[in-house]
Amino acid sequence: MTAAAMVAEFDDVAGWTADAVRQLGDRYAIPAACRGSASPTALAWLAEACELSAGTRLLDVGAGVGGPSAWAAERFGVSPILLEPMPAACRAASTLFGLPVVLADGRRIPIRTASVDVAWCLGVLCTVEDKSTLLSEIHRVLVPGGSLGLLVVIAQGKQLRKLPDGNHFPGQHELDALLAEAGFDVLEQIERPADVPRSWSLRAAEVAAMVEARHSSHTAYALAARQGRRLADLFDGGQLSMQLIHGRKA
Ligand SMILES: C[S@@+](CC[C@H](N)C(=O)[O-])C[C@H]1O[C@@H](n2cnc3c(N)ncnc32)[C@H](O)[C@@H]1O
Repeated sequence: MTAAAMVAEFDDVAGWTADAVRQLGDRYAIPAACRGSASPTALAWLAEACELSAGTRLLDVGAGVGGPSAWAAERFGVSPILLEPMPAACRAASTLFGLPVVLADGRRIPIRTASVDVAWCLGVLCTVEDKSTLLSEIHRVLVPGGSLGLLVVIAQGKQLRKLPDGNHFPGQHELDALLAEAGFDVLEQIERPADVPRSWSLRAAEVAAMVEARHSSHTAYALAARQGRRLADLFDGGQLSMQLIHGRKA
């Protein structure tokens, strides 16, 4: 994952987001730090599907700024470990939420085999070309029977034009095959629920507006904004859809 636009989107903007949250206040942190389009509705579905409870060892692979893990820790009392390859995102997650963060690539997870109960990987698969290795590593670190919660953007079978740099969207069949090959049974899949509470969207938007006001003249901001526009165009054209999946280590 070396595209400059992805570094801009996942590293520079991550750091700017944390700065803006520090200025605006704690109640902005979780909505602004959910950067894979997870909403409270989507997170609640994943949390219930994966049967999160106090003490669940949750590994969040490609955790970004840490919003989903912080949400799970706050609402369910889980003990998350965040894994993320972008240094500024790691610092942002650590300073905003005080959660343990490992700076690492999901294709080589520096964690013992069979040591986590649940793994989440939200909005990450499409940013990784070698999806098999990523999924095999997640499978390795899960306990037998452990749950996998995925938020995945999939291609809807049409030819995709003007992709965001560095993104590779699997089709449904490709995704099914990848999960089966990695050793996961898919227990359930739904389209990501569209409803997001207004108070959540407004807080996320306020942080985004502050980041724009402060950094819009920066090249990295322009690159990240172009990524967002391309993604939005593909969704608007019906070429992509966002899915939630609950899998289990077979
Ligand atoms: C769309 S963001 C989602 C962040 C977070 N999961 C969330 O929902 O807020 C995708 C994340 O995947 C991370 N990522 C990309 N390639 C990765 C890899 N090989 N291993 C682990 N994470 C990766 C990026 O750095 C970025 O933080």
